[in-house]
Amino acid sequence: MAAAGLAGGAAAEDYPTRPITMVVPFAAGGPTDTVARLVAESMSKDLGQQILVENVGGAGGTLGASRVAKADPDGYTLLLHHIGMATSAVLYRKLPYDTLNAFEYVGLVTDVPMTIVARSDFEPADLKGLIDYVKANGDKVTMANAGVGAASHLCGMLFMSKIGAQLTTVPYKGTGPAMTDLVGKQVDFMCDQTTNTTNQIKAGKIKAYATTTKERVSSLPDVPTAAEAGLPDFEVGIWHGIYAPKGTSPEITAKLSASLQKALKDPLVVKRFADLGTAPSSDAEATRDGLKTKLTAEIERWRPVISAAGVYAD
Ligand code: MLT
Repeated sequence: MAAAGLAGGAAAEDYPTRPITMVVPFAAGGPTDTVARLVAESMSKDLGQQILVENVGGAGGTLGASRVAKADPDGYTLLLHHIGMATSAVLYRKLPYDTLNAFEYVGLVTDVPMTIVARSDFEPADLKGLIDYVKANGDKVTMANAGVGAASHLCGMLFMSKIGAQLTTVPYKGTGPAMTDLVGKQVDFMCDQTTNTTNQIKAGKIKAYATTTKERVSSLPDVPTAAEAGLPDFEVGIWHGIYAPKGTSPEITAKLSASLQKALKDPLVVKRFADLGTAPSSDAEATRDGLKTKLTAEIERWRPVISAAGVYAD
């Protein structure tokens, strides 16, 4: 044991001595990928080794999470995932990993608002019109998402249960490719994070009906909140965190947490986050305890909601 501790300590001192892989469990070009690449670039400068983002999309983010759960706990494989980590722990009854016991924690990164957006030529003029349209047309309306357990799936599920309508969902490996089809008018609408929708909305390539926030989002001052647009109590935030495989030494996860906290104060990261409608997590949140507490609480929050809906992925 003493030898292992010493080895762990010594290893952490020199860590990292080669590039690190950060797994993003959704397709490249999407919101989670955008957050990961911004933070990875800043942490790379601080740690003196490149953090390479690897996209492992599929099954609502559980394929990528499973990849990291099985990786060597040497600090060279990390996972950046979001609220899907919690919802999947309930939605998937046969996950190939134990969500609360297969990972070490590095820290929370950001909490991204969602937007309800549609193809630019979609008929409804506002959120009330969208709700009436969906109720009148049901499964003729298509809604894109990034698979069962994804943020876009969760938000879509909440929207459908809130308005009491069912529509046709179209799954993708991420909302990056889904956005391509939305801009291309191949699907009607979706719920997606501001980190993926802000630029498309500003460019007029998609239509925006509402944000899922209490206050308007700074990067989208003209987009009403859901409450302002007539759908009260529809608030969804997509919190993101960084994990490592179970058994990664506390010295290494402490070093990664410290580097994450620095990255979240990096003016470039702060500005890019603000341009995309989000903000960095605080120092207290960007810690191992901060993320563990959040994940544990969120699994307990979503368990009754998902059980009541009875919608399981397997
Ligand atoms: C993505 O990066 O594609 C999204 O986070 C997917 C989602 O959860 O909706």
